[in-house]
Amino acid sequence: MKNILVTIDGPAASGKGKIANYLSKKWKLKHLDSGVLYRKLALGIIDEKINFNLDKELKIFIKNYKFNSFKSQKKLRTEKVSKIASKIAVHKFVRNHVNLFQKNFVGRFIKNHGFVIDGRDIGSVVFKNADLKLYIDVSLVNRAKRRYKQLIDTNEKSIYAQILKEIKLRDKKDKSRKISPLVVPNGAIVIDNNGKFTQTIKIINTLISKL
Ligand code: DC
Repeated sequence: MKNILVTIDGPAASGKGKIANYLSKKWKLKHLDSGVLYRKLALGIIDEKINFNLDKELKIFIKNYKFNSFKSQKKLRTEKVSKIASKIAVHKFVRNHVNLFQKNFVGRFIKNHGFVIDGRDIGSVVFKNADLKLYIDVSLVNRAKRRYKQLIDTNEKSIYAQILKEIKLRDKKDKSRKISPLVVPNGAIVIDNNGKFTQTIKIINTLISKL
């Protein structure tokens, strides 16, 4: 086990989650998927019928929301949850709430544990001083193809053109957001994940083994 902090940023469907999952097992790191935190808030908003277009109502909800887990669940992956998560992620008070949880959580365990954390602003904003910062790069078409295959493999109905459109839209939202937009973090290493997964992790494992 290495007591290190690795951040992985990148656009939707770039394979960050799969890479982070693999690294957490290989290097015995705790895996924190920050997207799950935004998704949990979105699910809470749906369950409690919060009008997230009203800043005041959303602020009260966020202030009182306590993250009790950050496990990924199928119900967090619906289109409705994705849309609300990306809408609320533009607010500074929402991002501060998520970031504070991440910092506290990592702070509590980092003495005895290493971490791999994936998201959109982890190396650029939340953990700027991480030991290794990665940015995962995959073309839009490859991401859409992979997401489409994933859905088909799990028997979910989907239309390729629709997937492509949705990913394009999420890219636009993630990159044009005023607060913490998706960027290649300063000091990050850009990893080309267009090819085989084994090739990608070989490069990353080499980087980690040098830490
Ligand atoms: O990675 P994901 O698709 O599970 O993320 C869900 C949404 O949360 C996505 O629209 C962008 C947002 N997000 C963010 O703004 N910052 C992060 N660090 C992680 C996710």
